Amino acid sequence: MLVLGIESSCDETAAAAVHNGREILSSVIASQIELHKPWGGVVPELASREHLEKIETIVTEALEHGGVLLREVDAIAVTQGPGLIGSLLVGICYAKSLAYALDIPIVGVNHIEGHVYSVNFENPPVEYPALALIVSGGHTNIFYIPEEGKYKVVSRTRDDAAGEAFDKVAKMLGLGYPGGPVIEKIAREGDAGKIKFTKAKISDGRPDLSFSGLKTAVSRYLRESGVEPLINGTSPSQELKDLAASFQESVVRSLVDTMEKLAINLGPKALIVAGGVACNLALRAASKAAAERLGIPAYFPSKHLSTDNAAMIAAAGYFHLQNGERAGLNMTADITMRLQNLNNEDDELRRSKVRYRL
Ligand code: KG4
Ligand code: ZN
Repeated sequence: MLVLGIESSCDETAAAAVHNGREILSSVIASQIELHKPWGGVVPELASREHLEKIETIVTEALEHGGVLLREVDAIAVTQGPGLIGSLLVGICYAKSLAYALDIPIVGVNHIEGHVYSVNFENPPVEYPALALIVSGGHTNIFYIPEEGKYKVVSRTRDDAAGEAFDKVAKMLGLGYPGGPVIEKIAREGDAGKIKFTKAKISDGRPDLSFSGLKTAVSRYLRESGVEPLINGTSPSQELKDLAASFQESVVRSLVDTMEKLAINLGPKALIVAGGVACNLALRAASKAAAERLGIPAYFPSKHLSTDNAAMIAAAGYFHLQNGERAGLNMTADITMRLQNLNNEDDELRRSKVRYRL
């Protein structure tokens, strides 16, 4: 089955042709980073306009690069949510029109499930149960996956997503946007043990994550230590490199410690680490070490597939299409779409007043 994947949930316009959910024939991504850079973050209105400008070209390029004719496409998978409403709608409207014109099936895919499927390429098939840490600019969740397509959230952030913490701390340090890659770069020359940031404690004892306290601690450290943020064009001081490395170490520690503790309790056969922050080599090394201690494999997407792309959406869509799922032409964007279809604990959490921002 040849699936055309379309992704436009945030600031990447992407399309990909994927054969049987595992073989990428093409994957084209137009990043909007340069457009949003002057604003220090994604501006939703600019993002949707840019998607609208690019979508046609990107889909055409994906077909051309893959040597695929439109009439050879068997089905379309498009990101349905979560994400920015205007951005999502561009991809969804385009995908629905194309599916209607070609008279082929279409499925809406949860973007986070897409990240889970990004390890489908370049790795052996995932053994279940699996435990997946999905860390991006918008999301930080750990899912228990007893079998393919079944998800239970076993940990999530109470406030900022890990990537968001990287982006905000980079802004404070004068490093620009997006924060993850720059922090990782200067952290390589820093001493990660220099500053000991305390790990966030979750008062009700749930294995959840929190990064807003760490962000405040970095800001306080900057103020009290007198370390100067980077001024345009200068090179970072050793103190700044140490601060970046210590911050990164703290994020990586809390993510990997939480994942490892959960793995000890849940006994997965594989770890999955995906999402934009999974580009981070310190996170990969620490996750790999945890997997070795657990005696199980850790699967990561390649760098190209860690950040937003449409190949992962096609792979997730393929699974749903194989299950006979089809969306109607009334399918629309769902910005709060959740990826939990097992033992939904939301009511229990609401009763115990556990609050999540994301
Ligand atoms: O998955 P993604 O492309 O978009 C969302 O769905 O959010 O993730 C983007 C996030 C950004 O916050 C970016 O700073 C972070 O991934 N990121 C990194 C690295 N590369 C990208 N974070 C840490 N280290 C990196 N090398
Ligand atoms: Zn993403």
